[in-house]
Amino acid sequence: MNIPQLTIGKTVCKIPIIQGGMGVRVSLAGLASAVANEGGVGTISSIGLGDLEASKNDYERLSKEALIREINKAREITDGHLAVNIMGVLSNADDLVRTVAKENVNTLVFGAGLPTKLPLLVEDSEINLVPIISSARVAELILRSWRKYDRIVDAFILEGPLAGGHLGFSESQLEESDKYSLEILLPQVLEVIKPYEDKFGKKIPVIAAGGIYTGKDIARMLSLGASGVQMATRFVCTNECDVSEEFKQAYINAGEDDIVIIKSPVGMPGRAIRNNFIKKIEVLEKVSFRCNYRCLTACQVEKAKFCIADALVNAYYGNLDKGLIFCGRNAYRLDKIVSVKELINELITELSEA
Ligand SMILES: Cc1cc2nc3c(=O)[nH]c(=O)nc-3n(C[C@H](O)[C@H](O)[C@H](O)COP(=O)(O)O)c2cc1C
Repeated sequence: MNIPQLTIGKTVCKIPIIQGGMGVRVSLAGLASAVANEGGVGTISSIGLGDLEASKNDYERLSKEALIREINKAREITDGHLAVNIMGVLSNADDLVRTVAKENVNTLVFGAGLPTKLPLLVEDSEINLVPIISSARVAELILRSWRKYDRIVDAFILEGPLAGGHLGFSESQLEESDKYSLEILLPQVLEVIKPYEDKFGKKIPVIAAGGIYTGKDIARMLSLGASGVQMATRFVCTNECDVSEEFKQAYINAGEDDIVIIKSPVGMPGRAIRNNFIKKIEVLEKVSFRCNYRCLTACQVEKAKFCIADALVNAYYGNLDKGLIFCGRNAYRLDKIVSVKELINELITELSEA
């Protein structure tokens, strides 16, 4: 089979698939190492790690230690390509970025916030810096702001409106998601990055994400000029995915109409399955909670309807009545749990047929 490889910086992956980082604790060492073993990029999410109660007094140190544990655990299982996902809205984002650099993780994926000072925090050019963007405008803003460091990104992940978790689009943009489809955004991004590629004499791979479900979808993105794809939702329903069985079953049981957009305390819309927890926050003024630590810079604790950290950790443990189940637009299409190997074989077979 003639499957295109994915090159990011000096790293060459056998298949053009990145498993997207999924917080809280949905993609840890188990899932990431399984994907890396199949020749893709396995992404560990750095978000919401560490024991919640113990973290009360020492959040930053315990989060960092938990991330190092996950990285080491993954490295015991695979010598494949690993990445760590960090969200810019986290109050300890800088510390996590420095940890990834210190631990020499190949690739750092940075989303939910502008990575304007990332090159300052990670001077080692061997570490691939990969921002997540949702428009050509943001791609250009990042490239322009990095000129003073004489550095360009090693790749962009272009996340469209069908993705899971927090989304880089407003609610009104999401209502007209056709206008922001990957098919529309991708050529715009390829155009704005071109002068920077010429100036630095380096290709910037653009990796398409959001709603990619089959090998045929991957083929379509590659034919439009993407160098690879990032997929998350499909990896949730695998044996190796680190989240609870209840979470995986919620995907399998969900119908198309159960997948909704919510307002997150992060300050961005998010996509999730409308379960009892969401029904409760629709009618309640506020779900009472205590903020043990300020994990998000943007969270207005007094105004927040619920604690997103608590809700995502509850979902991770399978306590779904108090849990928020993030998912991509296509989660309703899932009907079984398979191994990562089976999933990747299926995608690669479909890709080569397409
Ligand atoms: C359960 C879940 C949690 C996610 N959490 C994060 C996250 O913490 N950080 C992030 O950058 N993206 C997050 N995402 C987005 C994915 O990494 C990915 O880019 C996107 O979901 C791809 O679309 P797909 O799910 O349709 O394949 C999450 C997605 C899901 C489904």
